[in-house]
Amino acid sequence: MSTNNIYLDYSASTPVDPRVIEKMLPFLREHIANPSSQHRAGWNAMHAIDQARKQVMALLNASLPKEIIFTSGASESNSLAILGFILALRKINPNQTFHAITSQVEHKSVLETFEQLKEFNVDVDFIPVNSFGQVDVKTVEKHLRPNTVLMSFMWANNELGSLNPMAALSELAIKNKICLHTDATQACGKIPIDLQNIPIDFLSLSAHKMYGPKGVGALYRRFDQHHSKMNLSPLIRGGGQEYNVRAGTLNTPGIIGLGEAAKIAQDEFIPKDSLLLQEQTNNLKYQLEKLFPTLKLNGHPTERIPGHLHLSFPGIRWDQWLPRMSELCVSTTSACSSDSGQGSHVLRALGFSDNEIHSSLRISLGKFTTDEDLRKALLLFEKITRPQHPQAKP
Ligand SMILES: Cc1ncc(COP(=O)(O)O)c(C=O)c1O
Repeated sequence: MSTNNIYLDYSASTPVDPRVIEKMLPFLREHIANPSSQHRAGWNAMHAIDQARKQVMALLNASLPKEIIFTSGASESNSLAILGFILALRKINPNQTFHAITSQVEHKSVLETFEQLKEFNVDVDFIPVNSFGQVDVKTVEKHLRPNTVLMSFMWANNELGSLNPMAALSELAIKNKICLHTDATQACGKIPIDLQNIPIDFLSLSAHKMYGPKGVGALYRRFDQHHSKMNLSPLIRGGGQEYNVRAGTLNTPGIIGLGEAAKIAQDEFIPKDSLLLQEQTNNLKYQLEKLFPTLKLNGHPTERIPGHLHLSFPGIRWDQWLPRMSELCVSTTSACSSDSGQGSHVLRALGFSDNEIHSSLRISLGKFTTDEDLRKALLLFEKITRPQHPQAKP
C-alpha cells in the first residue's frame, strides 16, 4: 500500500486489485451508457454486465444468470433476502404468523432486519452459538417450529473468522423445507463455495471484501431444476432492472469490478494465494505468541477464513494503546459496529467480559500484505512489552 499505514484490516475492506481497476476504468471514461438504454452503447454496457454476472456465477457454481441480482453491497443483499422473502410470503398468506431463526453473532444488517421482521408478524429467535462462535445444528433443530419459514446463518463470522457448518445447515433446511439464507460476505472469494454441492436458497456477497470496489455486491437467489424461484418482494421499486427484484440504474463500473474480482478470486486466490496467506498469518501468530505468552486465539482454531486472526492479549487495553499506534490499521471490533460505539455484540454473545473485549484485537491480512508490513507491526507490538518504554503504561 502506498501510505505509511500498516494495513492489517482486510476483513473490514480490501484494497482493489489493480487488474480490477483496469477493467473498471473504460466504464468510467468511455462506455458510460446506461445498460438499460436501447441503443448500441447501452447494449454493449449490458453485454459487459452479462459477462460479470457469469463471473460471479462461476465463483459460486450457480446454474443460471438470473440467480445473480446485483446490489449495492452485502447489507442490501441481506435486507433484500430476509425482508423481501418474508414480504413475498406475507402477500400470499396475509394472516399467518411465521417464525424465523438467526444467530446472535450475525452482522448487524442481518440482526436489525430480523428485528424488523417482528413488525410483519414474524416470531424471531436469535440462537446462541458455541464457544468458537459457530452455529450448532442441534441447537437450530431444537428451535424449529411447524411455522419456521426462514433461517439465516453467516458462512463466516466477520469478527472471529470462524466458519459455520453450512453443509449440515443446508441439509437441515432441505429436510424441513425451510428457506436458508447465508451472509457469505467474509467467505466469498476466500474459500471454495459450490452451491451445487451445498444448496442454499439465498447468499449475500460484497465486492470490497474480495479486492473489488466498495458499494457493489450481489444476492444469489436459487432457482431449482424446475426453474421455480424463491419469491422476493423488491425493496427498491421503480424499474425493471435485475429481473424486477431490484430497481435502479445498474452500477456498471462497480459490477464489472465485482466480476473481475470474482474471476481473480476463483483463478488465483482460492487455489493458491490463500495457502500462502495462511502460512504468513500462522507465522505472525507464532511471533506474537513469543512476545505475549498468554496470547489466546478466539474463534475456531482450524475452521476459519484464511488471513484472519482474532486474539486476546490478557492485561493489554487496546482502547488505550491503539490511539498511540494509529499507523497500525487493525480492529478492536468490526468496523461496522464500531461506529455505533457499543462493544462487540459477537464477543458479548460468547460471554466475554468488558476487560476481555478491551484486550482483544482483530488482525486480518490479505494478498497484498508484505513481510515488511508484518515486521513493522511486530516492532510496534514489541514496544508494548518493554516495561522501560515511556509508553509502556498508557
Ligand atoms: C459478515 C458481513 N456482512 C455484511 C457486511 C456488510 O457489507 P457491505 O459493506 O457490502 O454492506 C459486512 C461488512 O463488514 C460483513 O462483514
